[in-house]
Amino acid sequence: MDSEQIDDNNLDKQYFESYDKFQVHELMLRDRPRVTAYYDAIMSNKHLFENKVILDVGSGTGILSMFAAKAGAKLVYAVDACPTICDLAVELIKCNHLQDKIQVINKPIEDIDKFDENIDIIISEWMGFYLFHESMLESVIYARDHFLNLSSGNDDITSDQNESIIIFPSHAYLYCAPFVDQNIRIELNTMWKDYFDLNMLSILPYIKNSNLKECIIETIEPSQLVHDAQLIQSIDLRTIRIDDLYIMRSFCEFDIDNTCIISGFCFWFDCYFSSNNNSSILRSTRLTTSPYSIKTHWKQTLVFLTEDIYPLKGDTVPVNIKFKKSLKNRRQYQLSIVIKKIKEGFMNNNIIDNENLNNDLNIRKRQRRRSSTISSDKRNINDNKSMHKSSDSSSSNTDDDIDSNEHPIPCSCVRDRCKLIKTILEKYNEENTVQ
Ligand SMILES: C[S@@+](CC[C@H](N)C(=O)[O-])C[C@H]1O[C@@H](n2cnc3c(N)ncnc32)[C@H](O)[C@@H]1O
Repeated sequence: MDSEQIDDNNLDKQYFESYDKFQVHELMLRDRPRVTAYYDAIMSNKHLFENKVILDVGSGTGILSMFAAKAGAKLVYAVDACPTICDLAVELIKCNHLQDKIQVINKPIEDIDKFDENIDIIISEWMGFYLFHESMLESVIYARDHFLNLSSGNDDITSDQNESIIIFPSHAYLYCAPFVDQNIRIELNTMWKDYFDLNMLSILPYIKNSNLKECIIETIEPSQLVHDAQLIQSIDLRTIRIDDLYIMRSFCEFDIDNTCIISGFCFWFDCYFSSNNNSSILRSTRLTTSPYSIKTHWKQTLVFLTEDIYPLKGDTVPVNIKFKKSLKNRRQYQLSIVIKKIKEGFMNNNIIDNENLNNDLNIRKRQRRRSSTISSDKRNINDNKSMHKSSDSSSSNTDDDIDSNEHPIPCSCVRDRCKLIKTILEKYNEENTVQ
C-alpha cells in the first residue's frame, strides 16, 4: 500500500462526515434543476412507484424518499451513513406525516445484509463533479447487485430482466468540449509583463504550476466553447459494473470550423430517468448540468492546458481522455488529457514542416464536492502537466524539452501557421485589453 494512500475506512469516515455540514444539504436542496428533475421523474411515473418498495441510497434530508412516498410507494428505505443528517431526515419525514412509509437507516449501504422486504426500485443522487468524483456510483451498483428484486449476482441478469430493473436515474452521459478563457490568457500574456510598472513575468511558471493545474469547478459561458461537445462516457445504471469504473478511456476529434484558441477542456454530464427500454431514454426526464442550461451546483469542470493551443480552420484536434481511479484515494480520479498531434487541414496544406503539439495533463483532484464555499472544503488538487513533442503519450517532458522545430507563440517567422496565430493573438489582445 502506498504510504500516502488513505486507509479506506478512514476515507469513508471522512467522506460521510463531510455530509454532516447542513450547508451541503441546503445547497443541494436549493439546486432547483436537480430537485425538479427527481420530482418530475418520480411524479410522472407514479404508476411504477405505487405499492412498491423503494431504496433511497444516500437519502440525506430524505427529500427523494419523501417524493417516492408521495408517489404512492408502500415502503421506502432511506439509507444514509452520514452521522447527523438522518436525525433531520426523521424530523422532516414526521412533519410531512410520512413516518409510516419511510424507514430511515443510518448506515453505509454496504453494511446492510438484508432488508425485510424485497426492493423494487432504487433511487439515488450519487453524481459528483465530472460525474465520477466521490465514487458514490459504486454504492448504487452494490445496492443494485445485492438488493434489487431480480438481481442476484448481476452477471446472470437476462436482457428481459434488465428491462425491468428500475434505477433512477437510469442513464448518465459525460460530455467534453474545448473552451477558451480570455481572462486567464490576458492575465498570463499581458498583465504580468507590466504590473504596477514592474516586470513580474517570472511569476508565470509558478502560476502555471499552481492555478492552472487545478481542475476548476465553475460555470462557463457557452460563448467560450469553441466546438460542440462530444459524448465521452455513457453509463447504463442497469448494467455498469464497479470494475468498469477503474479506468475509463475515450477518444474524440474536434474538427475546427473557425480558427480559434483552446485554453482547456470543459466537462459536464446529463442524467436520464428512464423506466424501461432504451428507446424511451430521450423522452424521459433529463437532469442536465450543461453550460447551455440553468446553472446547477455541479457547475462545469474546467481543465486548463498548460499552454493554449491554436488550431486553424480545417484542423482536427484529436484528444485522448483517461479517467483513472486514484490509487491514493478511491473516491478521486486522475484525469489525463493527451492531444497527440493536431492534424493540419485544408487551410494548411502548404506547411511542410511537421508541428506536433502534445499536451499531457494529469489531475489528481482532492476536493469534496458540492460547494467550494464550505470553509473546511479546501481544494487541494495536484497535477502534473507537461508539454512534449513525442507522439508517445506515455513519455512526458517539460517545457524546456520542446523541440527546436516548435515555434514560440507568437512567432514572427514567415510560416503561414505562425503568421496566422500572430494575427489571431494581436486581434484578440486588441479586443480584450482593458484600458
Ligand atoms: C449527494 S447526497 C444526496 C442526498 C439526498 N439524496 C438529496 O438528494 O438531497 C449523497 C448522500 O449519500 C450519502 N452516502 C454516500 N455514500 C453512501 C453509502 N455508501 N451508504 C449510505 N449513504 C451514503 C452521503 O452521506 C450523502 O448524505
